[in-house]
Amino acid sequence: MLILGIETSCDETSAAVLDDEKVLSNVIFSQIKTHRVYGGVVPEIAAREHLARLPLVIDGALDKAGIKMRDLGGVAVTYGPGLAGALIVGLSYAKSISFSLGIPLIGVNHLEAHLLSPFIEFKDMSFPYLGLVISGGHTNLYMANGFGDYKLLGSTRDDAAGEAFDKAAKMLGLPYPGGPSISKAALKGDASKIIFPQAQMKDKSHDFSFSGIKTAVLYYIERNKSKLDSGGITVNDVAAAFQKAVVRSISNKLRRIYSEYNIGAVAISGGVAANNYLQEEVKKFTDERKIRFYTPSMRLCTDNAAMIGYTGYQYLKRGAFSGIDIEADPELMVAEKSLKKV
Ligand code: KG4
Ligand code: ZN
Repeated sequence: MLILGIETSCDETSAAVLDDEKVLSNVIFSQIKTHRVYGGVVPEIAAREHLARLPLVIDGALDKAGIKMRDLGGVAVTYGPGLAGALIVGLSYAKSISFSLGIPLIGVNHLEAHLLSPFIEFKDMSFPYLGLVISGGHTNLYMANGFGDYKLLGSTRDDAAGEAFDKAAKMLGLPYPGGPSISKAALKGDASKIIFPQAQMKDKSHDFSFSGIKTAVLYYIERNKSKLDSGGITVNDVAAAFQKAVVRSISNKLRRIYSEYNIGAVAISGGVAANNYLQEEVKKFTDERKIRFYTPSMRLCTDNAAMIGYTGYQYLKRGAFSGIDIEADPELMVAEKSLKKV
């Protein structure tokens, strides 16, 4: 079956065509350049850009896949979480395609799509696995026991990991989005020059906290202005030390969970999972323990419609789809027993 996936939850306008689970096309129009001048995503501008770009992006995805709109058997679209106006654009478009062609509409949870995204490229992957979804808006750790059966083990108590990267980059005068700029700067820096503290949870929870590391960067910059000006310490060194602290806190958490649960596989996905240093550190740990490690390629880590189409197809093949009255849900979470609205 040919499925069209649509993603407009934040600042990427994306459409993909899948033949069952096989991705035929995955067109992504990034709005980064538009938002960069503001130092972050401006929700109203994002919605307007989606409105202008989505028809072209969908045409591009259909063309690349070599099919016509009328060949589609279903349309899957992100209905949350994300920016309200941005979500509404994609959802309205998907509804009109579903209604006019008489094909099923599947509302997809963006976080569930990130969680399942490694399956697209790793055909040997199977449940159960420990899934870490780390993006600009979320840092969620799940025990994924089966399709639709996810147990949330921990999430962030304050900033999401990507948000911390974005804020730290801003403090260091590096361009938006902060994740790629910090990882690029870190390559030229010396992480051992500064040690930023990592949050220790007082209780036994598996929650994360990144605001402390971010604040430590802020204080460090304020207190060491002269060293930064004289070149004793560079922005690259601060970026490297920050990245190391964030990555350490994530990999330490995975190590701790490993000692509590019987884990055979770890998957990391979402924009921050594109970070090379994080991938290396997690791989070191999974190699040591001889557990399988999966992470999507860069294009499938950051926001994309292929993962939306893939997740939508999982519902459709089980006979589940949404009503035309489905609404955008900006605060949607991945519930332990998956989506209730579909
Ligand atoms: O998944 P995503 O594209 O959008 C959301 O659902 O939020 O993630 C975007 C986030 C941004 O905060 C960005 O700074 C971060 O992912 N990011 C990275 C890297 N590439 C993107 N963070 C660290 N290292 C990277 N290489
Ligand atoms: Zn995302």
